[in-house]
Amino acid sequence: MKRILLRKIKLSDKKYFARWWRDKELLKLTSGILKLISDEEVEKYFSAIIDNLTDYHFMILLDKKVIGHITLAKRKNDWYETQIVIGEKKYWGKGYGTKAIKLLLKKAKKFGISKIYLEVRPTNTRAIAAYENAGFVRRRIKKYPKNKYLSKTLRMELKL
Ligand SMILES: CC(C)(COP(=O)(O)OP(=O)(O)OC[C@H]1O[C@@H](n2cnc3c(N)ncnc32)[C@H](O)[C@@H]1OP(=O)(O)O)[C@@H](O)C(=O)NCCC(=O)NCCS
Repeated sequence: MKRILLRKIKLSDKKYFARWWRDKELLKLTSGILKLISDEEVEKYFSAIIDNLTDYHFMILLDKKVIGHITLAKRKNDWYETQIVIGEKKYWGKGYGTKAIKLLLKKAKKFGISKIYLEVRPTNTRAIAAYENAGFVRRRIKKYPKNKYLSKTLRMELKL
């Protein structure tokens, strides 16, 4: 198996997001909002990531190639929320997502983070399997009746 590494996000990574945030297959599995965003919106959302001082953002590298993005975002009561996207789709289902999540958990432990959760589309069985591989457990279904793009999620948790 090739080597998976995480490295801190940098300004020149914007090009990956500009592509991934416009990929309908990816959007269907994440926000569900398929409307294509403008260059200005990409700039705005990417700046929000880069300027944020409380969250951790890492790029996922396969050997030296960037294939995805993984985050730990600070939430209430010492909880952190994680999200992962392997934007380069040909690398799905090869164990790389599981590996990246495990590497993130190692970093979280070093940062003194002990409570991590995520929310995933209940139909996203590949993501759920990857999270379970890394030690997350299913907790409950959360309903968002006002969100027509994502009306329910599965909350999964892990305590380090
Ligand atoms: C979710 C994601 C990060 C998982 O990473 P990955 O490298 O594809 O996943 P892995 O190969 O590590 O693990 C996938 C698991 O799902 C299983 N799987 C693979 N293809 C599958 C498929 N088409 N349907 C269901 N399960 C599948 C694998 O067998 C594996 O489980 P196992 O180890 O118990 O056998 C990646 O697929 C991705 O970025 N998807 C698009 C964005 C997304 O859904 N993000 C998550 C939003 S919450």
